[in-house]
Amino acid sequence: MSDNIPQVPQKLLFVCLGNICRSPSAENIMNHLVAVQGKSDRIMCDSAGTASYHTGAAPDRRMAIAAKKRGITLHGRARQFSQQDFQQFDLILAMDRSNYQNILALDPEQKYRDKVKMMCDFCTSYPDKEVPDPYYGGVDGFDYVIDLLFDACNGLLASEYLT
Ligand code: 4NP
Repeated sequence: MSDNIPQVPQKLLFVCLGNICRSPSAENIMNHLVAVQGKSDRIMCDSAGTASYHTGAAPDRRMAIAAKKRGITLHGRARQFSQQDFQQFDLILAMDRSNYQNILALDPEQKYRDKVKMMCDFCTSYPDKEVPDPYYGGVDGFDYVIDLLFDACNGLLASEYLT
């Protein structure tokens, strides 16, 4: 088998701050898109937060409502990102620059740096560079995050990393 054929299954980890808004949305949207494409046996998704404040918590209710409007049910409980995740996952997708820096800070030797990507680098329609933190904003922010994540997840699914 050639070296540039990805190992299967591909394991993706979506990371935000609290793991109750953006990253569980990304995880569940990606699972949905992967299932629609019949690739559930080849692509596995999980999510985590760089902070531990919400460990064990269900997704934020406002985020769950916004996801439901687009046909996505948010499953899972919050957990904190850990150093072991660098070995466990093939790609680690940061929602914003602060998440990205916090993830890389746990890899001082930069061994896993190439696995860590910015989620919005996979957007094809939205111009955003980061997935905005909706936690302290209005309800529109949650809807926006879902639409933005659909774009990024579709882009990721079509990217060189997963094809
Ligand atoms: P998330 O949103 O990182 O998308 O899960 C947040 C959730 C909680 C807090 C901040 C952002 N917080 O400050 O508690």
